[in-house]
Amino acid sequence: MRDINIAMFGLGNIGSGVMKILSENKDMISNRYNIDFIISGILVRDINKRRDIDIDKSLLTDRVEKLISDKRVSVVIEVLGGVNPAREYILMALKAGKTVVTANKEVLARHWQEFHEAAKDSGAGLYYEASVAGGIPIIKVLNQSMQANSITEIMGIINGTTNYILTNMSEAEKDFEEALEEAQKLGYAEPDPTADISGLDAMYKLSIMSTLAFHAKVPIDNIYREGLTHLTKEDIRYGKELGYTIKLLAIAKKKGNVIEARVHPSFIQKNHPLAAVREAYNAVFINGDRVGNLMLYGRGAGDMPTGSSIISDLITACQNECKQEYTTFANRDKSLSMVEFNDNWYSGFFIRMTVKDNPGVLSSIAGIFGKFGVSIESVIQKGHGADTATLIFVTHKALENSIKGAISEINMMDDITKVENIIRVEV
Ligand SMILES: NC(=O)c1ccc[n+]([C@@H]2O[C@H](COP(=O)([O-])OP(=O)(O)OC[C@H]3O[C@@H](n4cnc5c(N)ncnc54)[C@H](OP(=O)(O)O)[C@@H]3O)[C@@H](O)[C@H]2O)c1
Repeated sequence: MRDINIAMFGLGNIGSGVMKILSENKDMISNRYNIDFIISGILVRDINKRRDIDIDKSLLTDRVEKLISDKRVSVVIEVLGGVNPAREYILMALKAGKTVVTANKEVLARHWQEFHEAAKDSGAGLYYEASVAGGIPIIKVLNQSMQANSITEIMGIINGTTNYILTNMSEAEKDFEEALEEAQKLGYAEPDPTADISGLDAMYKLSIMSTLAFHAKVPIDNIYREGLTHLTKEDIRYGKELGYTIKLLAIAKKKGNVIEARVHPSFIQKNHPLAAVREAYNAVFINGDRVGNLMLYGRGAGDMPTGSSIISDLITACQNECKQEYTTFANRDKSLSMVEFNDNWYSGFFIRMTVKDNPGVLSSIAGIFGKFGVSIESVIQKGHGADTATLIFVTHKALENSIKGAISEINMMDDITKVENIIRVEV
């Protein structure tokens, strides 16, 4: 039996989950893998805080140096969250030759390169399965199962909070604020939900998974991001009438050496496999040139699913003698040394506007779309006030810049009261 000494950085929601699994599944793990995991110390902010988990208090410390200098410790599990001090502590651990298993997507997406270099220099490993989509083993699939493929597209619902909110807005016809409040009451959303509802969380995860999928660095600065606070139940209802479901999608596509990466609300056809992903579930859809379409589905957050991924990394790290070759954030595919990023991509658009109910308005708007090369797939008109109407256009595939050009010209028309919302349609 091998004894592996671990230091935990953080004992919050996820840290406590990891401790629970290590304790409850201790025998199963040691019988199967011949490894005994021993917790040597746990870094927390406040050692006197009351905790739900039954823990030997002598393990707790607020001094990171104590754990870094502990020669017995070969693996650190980082579940602090955020960038500071997580970045500094991860670097300290890697430089000291300790393998790091992290669930922290933000620090990884922002500082992967630095971690990679520190790990390479010291021979330590860096594992991050839990940083994307909680319990779904997307990192292992990308690294270890897709070698024969060129991946051209990876698309996912990778934020459970927003998927819960959108499911509720769509099925129970709730307003955004109401759905958010309910998600917070049920523990699906944080008291400060900004990172989720602004798309930041999904952007970090997309950066990590698309970098692995395309073997080329996809930095967060090259990812377009739009949150969901502007969505209304009216838009979602009209979308449903047209056969669409609303999702916050993280999308990355590669054509030749050109990559587009974006996080934004999207309508998808209601028979698309991702449309069936409800509530706080996550799913990732991959298109590989050899395997075809592949979809992974499961719980994208929570202490047990995330803990499951962390412990899988822990065991893999021990089986690899802690070293891992997939730490790289640098371009691995030599043919992709010159990657370009595209911010003028094609998609369909759902455009809702309020107009004066005058003769000829519809044809004037259609004329402007035509001038910008945008063709209309469908239009619906809804009576509104005495002299206003709501028009909803769904376009065929069009370029972002063409839509922007058309909308700014439409906005100048006397008969337009307001362009209320524009939502992309993934086609
Ligand atoms: N929650 C999820 O479902 C989920 C899913 C996937 C990935 N993750 C990722 O997992 C990580 C942890 O999330 P969580 O929900 O477990 O967070 P959390 O509940 O807020 O726990 C954070 C832990 O880190 C400790 N900590 C924070 N700052 C510290 C500092 N400066 N010095 C020492 N200790 C510090 C806290 O100590 P105290 O206990 O003393 O306050 C706490 O134990 C994050 O990166 C998150 O993105 C979370």
